[in-house]
Amino acid sequence: MSQKATFEFEGKKIEFSVLKGSEKELAIDIGQLRTSTQGVTTIDPGFKNTGSCQSAITFLDGEHGILRYRGYDIEELAERANFLEVAYLLIFGDLPTRDQLQNFLNDIKQYSIVADDMKKILDGFPQSAHPMGILSSLTSALIAFNPTSVDVESEEEMYQAIVKIMGKFPVLTAWSFRKIAGLPLDYGDNKLDYIDNFLKMLLQMPNQSKYESNPIVKSAIVKLLILHADHEQNCSTSTVRLVGSSHAGLYASISAGISALWGPLHGGANQAVIEMLESIKRDGGDTKKYMARAKDKNDPFRLMGFGHRVYKNFDPRARIIKRAADEVLGNLGIQDPVLDIAKGLEYEALNDPYFVERKLYPNVDFYSGIIYRALGIPVPMFTPMFALGRLPGWIAQWREMRRRKEPIGRPRQLYIGKTDRSFVDIDNR
Ligand SMILES: CC(C)(COP(=O)(O)OP(=O)(O)OC[C@H]1O[C@@H](n2cnc3c(N)ncnc32)[C@H](O)[C@@H]1OP(=O)(O)O)[C@@H](O)C(=O)NCCC(=O)NCCS
Repeated sequence: MSQKATFEFEGKKIEFSVLKGSEKELAIDIGQLRTSTQGVTTIDPGFKNTGSCQSAITFLDGEHGILRYRGYDIEELAERANFLEVAYLLIFGDLPTRDQLQNFLNDIKQYSIVADDMKKILDGFPQSAHPMGILSSLTSALIAFNPTSVDVESEEEMYQAIVKIMGKFPVLTAWSFRKIAGLPLDYGDNKLDYIDNFLKMLLQMPNQSKYESNPIVKSAIVKLLILHADHEQNCSTSTVRLVGSSHAGLYASISAGISALWGPLHGGANQAVIEMLESIKRDGGDTKKYMARAKDKNDPFRLMGFGHRVYKNFDPRARIIKRAADEVLGNLGIQDPVLDIAKGLEYEALNDPYFVERKLYPNVDFYSGIIYRALGIPVPMFTPMFALGRLPGWIAQWREMRRRKEPIGRPRQLYIGKTDRSFVDIDNR
């Protein structure tokens, strides 16, 4: 017999079904709450206890530090898969065969041309613009260049929309940086694979005749993109699903996701971390002073890169990235004093009762900025790199939401404003 949860309200008992996920997680289905109670609702700011959907894409167990895409452990994927394999896995549910992967890449390449008129839009941005603002706007502008809506009942139309955004997004990401750096725009080279092509568009200087791929740089970038590719119902992914639930198109939903990712409490943390570490270094490297500030409730300062809504043990991505940071810096022969400050802060936080009691561990963003910097990725590009990695996850979640025919997202509220008032004429206020 299926499990039930009993809720008692004003002397009346109401039974709710308890749903069990494939990893034996339990969720109380409160779908009948308002009907059974004549309009009583629940309140849960930040959705700390509330599931918004059923999903078969990513499993995350924050208590035990587990993260799996479609059942595959993140550590194994980061070690053994390439980025497009992971993208295919997330979006379509299974790892691709060699042929499927090759076709996916060919289709993406076919659509990687961005309309030349998009450059006029790009031209309108000031050089002081942040690449995330540019990227969100350009992604939104893609709608105007591809105005027909996608019939989500048609697998073929869905597929076309997916390969188009997978093809154009790296171009837009690279261009958003080239613009602020005052560098010419590059359309890439179809002979290169997905990652090398992106790195060429981003990094090749106009006076370099050929882009030379560096295997250390490429393998670290692939790892980072895979680690960022999905993370179940986080802020930007929930945004993508919510916007998409109104049947807004894929590009509109992803553009909204980019805006949500930009904030320093979410993807913007990777830039904020490196800026924080730099400012600690400039201030003499006194980590204890900043630990004290992070704990002071009257000081708005937070230790960026620490804490996570769902990981109350370590963030498994952070462990992989920390190892990768050591490897990359070693292989490239880079000595970064900021890495020592990061390690010092981590050591102190892991031994400090404030951080231990609140289960605040380093998250994925704590070390990613250090690697990006060592790889020659400019600081304002750290968050766009996160967006590039997260793109397959957003697509997979949008596709799942539409295929499951989820209803429009529309939370309830508890109204705490003024009650009924009569209008007062302006002369009498
Ligand atoms: C990620 C984050 C937004 C999660 O927020 P949350 O789940 O709402 O947790 P809260 O903000 O309620 O934090 C719980 C407690 O830990 C404290 N805390 C959380 N993160 C902290 C940090 N980075 N530095 C100092 N204190 C922190 C809070 O002040 C709060 O303390 P209290 O219980 O005494 O009030 C939050 O930890 C944070 O701001 N981290 C820094 C930004 C960051 O690295 N984001 C990237 C996430 S991948």
